[in-house]
Amino acid sequence: MHKPLGITGISPFAPANSPEYQQWRAARLENAEKAAGWGFLQIRDPKNLSAEERAEVLRRCDATNFALYQFTPNDDESDTRDSLRRLADALNLGLPEGHRSAGEKAIVALTVSEAPSQRGYIPYSRKAINWHTDGYYNPPDQEIRGFLLHCGRDATTGGRNQILDHTVAYIRLRDENPAYIDALMHPQAMTIPANVEPDGTTRPASVGPVFAADRDGNLTMRYTARTRSIEWRDDPLTREAATFLRDLLMAGDPLMIEAKLKPGQGVFNNNVLHTRTAFDPDETGNHSRRLMYRVRYFNRIGS
Ligand SMILES: [Fe+2]
Repeated sequence: MHKPLGITGISPFAPANSPEYQQWRAARLENAEKAAGWGFLQIRDPKNLSAEERAEVLRRCDATNFALYQFTPNDDESDTRDSLRRLADALNLGLPEGHRSAGEKAIVALTVSEAPSQRGYIPYSRKAINWHTDGYYNPPDQEIRGFLLHCGRDATTGGRNQILDHTVAYIRLRDENPAYIDALMHPQAMTIPANVEPDGTTRPASVGPVFAADRDGNLTMRYTARTRSIEWRDDPLTREAATFLRDLLMAGDPLMIEAKLKPGQGVFNNNVLHTRTAFDPDETGNHSRRLMYRVRYFNRIGS
């Protein structure tokens, strides 16, 4: 068995650690079950996150890798962006990634777009987005570890998000076959081939594991359920593990959370597995009022 980079003997999810793993497993499943009843944390003033609110966000993110929240919606886009950056700052997220679609305050507005740099990209369409974690095509030194998704305007129909703490996906795989974990922690488990970006630059191929430990020993996940433009390591167990995971996500896990974010609602998260359903199919042309703000970081929430 190879020793995946960053997985130390003290990691509770290290493949060889049985008693520690059993404890960790039980706690993660219990947290995920409880989280279904937690709802949206009310934030009184997003520009001044209180100590109590901050502690609750951190508690939830520590327990399940995400926290749903809400504050009074504001039609002023600039003010909303300001609120989101201040919230992120209060949660020690550091500097946001530089994204080619980033607008004011380095925040990306996810909305239906015909802009040349966005046309043809699913996030800027009304289409569903399959299970993934963000930035799975990034180089290893630009791993997305945390992000905020915030609703400015919701769709008339659809546009729901599903969320699954990736530690639960890890547990399901390990319960099925511990060797799946070894396969998916292999440094060459998943390759996203190089791609020519709309601005003409070439993004190099991204090669790496699905599951890994970050510099602080937290479990991270790099994943897409898409089947085009993705190469799994040429190994029967890797293919089997990838199929099991894909089937699990398609079938639905009882610990998944599903929500249609309303204006003013959002989710802080440590880059968990998530989807988006298709929306506004009846709108004519390529129109929808739906607007989601997204800002991504190389830090975890509260790191
Ligand atoms: Fe995403």
